[in-house]
Amino acid sequence: MSAVSSLAWANSPATGNAIALYARWSPQLDAKIAAAVQRLRDAAISHGDGLVQSSSLGVEDMVITDLIARHQLPIDIATLDTGKLHAETLGLIPRIAERYGREVAVFQPVNEQVIQFVRREGEDAMFKSIELRKACCGVRKLEPLARMLKGRSAWITGLRREQSGARAEVAFDEDDGQGRRKLSPIADWTWTEVWAYVERFEVPTNPLHDQFMPSIGCAPCTRAIAVGEDFRAGRWWWEESTKECGLHVKP
Ligand code: ADX
Ligand code: SF4
Repeated sequence: MSAVSSLAWANSPATGNAIALYARWSPQLDAKIAAAVQRLRDAAISHGDGLVQSSSLGVEDMVITDLIARHQLPIDIATLDTGKLHAETLGLIPRIAERYGREVAVFQPVNEQVIQFVRREGEDAMFKSIELRKACCGVRKLEPLARMLKGRSAWITGLRREQSGARAEVAFDEDDGQGRRKLSPIADWTWTEVWAYVERFEVPTNPLHDQFMPSIGCAPCTRAIAVGEDFRAGRWWWEESTKECGLHVKP
């Protein structure tokens, strides 16, 4: 059992309110916020227009968007709309515009590729094998990601080391294996710190986080987690895999 899931459930009130469940300001958080802002500022100076925040609209990414907007950093924000996201997730795009006056660039898969894939493999292909699930991620996420990153020299992610064993070594700044820098400015934040920030700065978040979905991806491939389950247990829950779609796997 991870520290996150045990902590989450130990003191949980009957509601699923994520702030009530998770938010705990730590003695280190002020310094971590200042360091994250400095990383974003440095990246904006080094990369200029070559920098983009890749936002899943999950809570970590919303915190980073808040840091970018609050500190008026000239950093573009973009998301991959796979065509399978929850309405609640997409609902954050207009909320970001209202709250921060920032437009989120939306990258969608090539319609013809999706149609061909679904015709060939079925609407439920992801459940048939890991290969087909990865093929679906390829069409719906990786191809649009390549377009999102075209012409960019660096991208910002909300990866955190605590999220999984596979992410335990995430660096603040690393080579993405394709000639770009991948920046994860809150890699060292804990789950409780993320929610403490959300509470303090009233960051808009996906209401699905209040339904025990700490990690949210496409609707068919995401479910709520149960008592004692790990942070990413609700992602591709039927698989015994490392639960990665390829966005963060070096070629
Ligand atoms: S995933 O690989 O399992 O889908 P996860 O949901 O944990 O990734 O998100 C990790 C980071 O990947 C996010 O903080 C974000 O930077 C990026 N990311 C994931 N999904 C998307 C998306 N739909 N659009 C843009 N970026 C994304
Ligand atoms: Fe397809 Fe699921 Fe991957 Fe989304 S997460 S692209 S629906 S397999």
